Amino acid sequence: MSDDSPQNDSDLFDKVVNLSKRRGFVFQSAEIYGGFRSAYDYGPIGVLLLRNVKDAWWRTMVQHRHDVVGLDASILSPPPVWEASGHLQNFTDPLVDCRSCGSRHREDHLDDPDTCPTCGEEGTLTEARQFNLMFQTHAGPVADSAAEVYLRPETAQGMFVNFANVLNTSRKKPPFGIAQIGKSFRNEITPGGFVFRTREFEQMELEFFVPPEESEEWYRYWCQERLNWYVGLGISESMLRLRPHDADELSHYSSGTSDVEFLFPWGWGELEGIANRGDYDLTQHAQHSGERLDYFDQERNERYVPHVIEPAAGATRSMMAFLMAAYDEEEVNEDTRVVLRLHPDLAPYKIAVLPLSKKETLTPLAQSIFDELKTRWMTDYDQTQAIGRRYRRQDELGTPYCVTVDFDSLDDDAVTIRERDSMEQVRIPVSGLIDWFREHLD
Ligand code: GAP
Repeated sequence: MSDDSPQNDSDLFDKVVNLSKRRGFVFQSAEIYGGFRSAYDYGPIGVLLLRNVKDAWWRTMVQHRHDVVGLDASILSPPPVWEASGHLQNFTDPLVDCRSCGSRHREDHLDDPDTCPTCGEEGTLTEARQFNLMFQTHAGPVADSAAEVYLRPETAQGMFVNFANVLNTSRKKPPFGIAQIGKSFRNEITPGGFVFRTREFEQMELEFFVPPEESEEWYRYWCQERLNWYVGLGISESMLRLRPHDADELSHYSSGTSDVEFLFPWGWGELEGIANRGDYDLTQHAQHSGERLDYFDQERNERYVPHVIEPAAGATRSMMAFLMAAYDEEEVNEDTRVVLRLHPDLAPYKIAVLPLSKKETLTPLAQSIFDELKTRWMTDYDQTQAIGRRYRRQDELGTPYCVTVDFDSLDDDAVTIRERDSMEQVRIPVSGLIDWFREHLD
């Protein structure tokens, strides 16, 4: 991706939001009822992109490592979990109300603490009060306090409360990690920025348990690894930075945190936080549950509570960053070509099979090519509209390669492969397609 184009484009945000709607990446939730501002639905293309982001994370964080195992914990959890984690007391944002127009704001997001950003009145904002971001509901038919449960505001606690279960069943020992991808819920005061801040979102979190004396080393390791992950998936280094938190920014559990930030059209924004959580979580859960949550190191004949390094990323927010970074426009034959220069691992479709014409003579060959490719790669098949328009559509979806079946294909048993970024075309025998794509996609 070029350093000069997308982030200097002040319309980039609107362009990506429009493209998302037009091509089926992201829809406003409950749109036919006027829309539900704080939630989004991922359409036929968006669900593929989001899944690819999560798969790429899982491959790097779990599959390619011997020291990380996975988990899929429940979303609903009882109050003691959140009592122990500190969320019931501390997971709050400062909320102010405008006495004039009734709007509500996060105090720490105000440009001017004396002026209401909605009505512009000065001196109308109330004193801040702490607002807990957790969604509460009730389990079972009786809505009393005994039935109170919470929708998790982070996936992390599922890993801590399962620490002993995983340790006892996985044959791992520190340093080792538990990874999880899943939905989290926060009653954000000011959702916004498209899918940047929503009340329902997906996280990709790793809790990496280490001997205490190794925590600083592992913290630095994970900061670099996580930055590299975004670069490896095509975001240019100039659009990413690692920003250490100041002491007054640190969460209640953290002794050190750095954010991986992306240069969004409105400025730098957090994609992921890498935190040194010390022994806070395991100690808290051990105290509250009465269970032993430590590790006995037989070689050293020593028992200790592992410290935790936590790289915590947003899947939905990262997806938005990948979209922003990939969006590009260029002039081609006096026309503007919109192209998503997505890394092939993230591209919703890897290949599109496009018979040149709808004529039935091309269909059997095109269909048989599609049938073969689709078993290995997510492949689209499209035979409507002029070929130029179909190429443009695939460019907007970020499809790296189009395979065009034309009338010559019936004679020479060859097809044309068009590459998304360069628009260069090569002629390849049908029998060589799988090998060609193996070389270029796998
Ligand atoms: N367990 C630590 C934790 O949850 P966090 O910084 O609050 O840390 C981690 O969240 C990541 O989750 C963030 O960097 C962001 O990418 C994503 N995230 C947090 N709140 C979000 C929201 N309301 N909407 C979308 N993504 C969010």
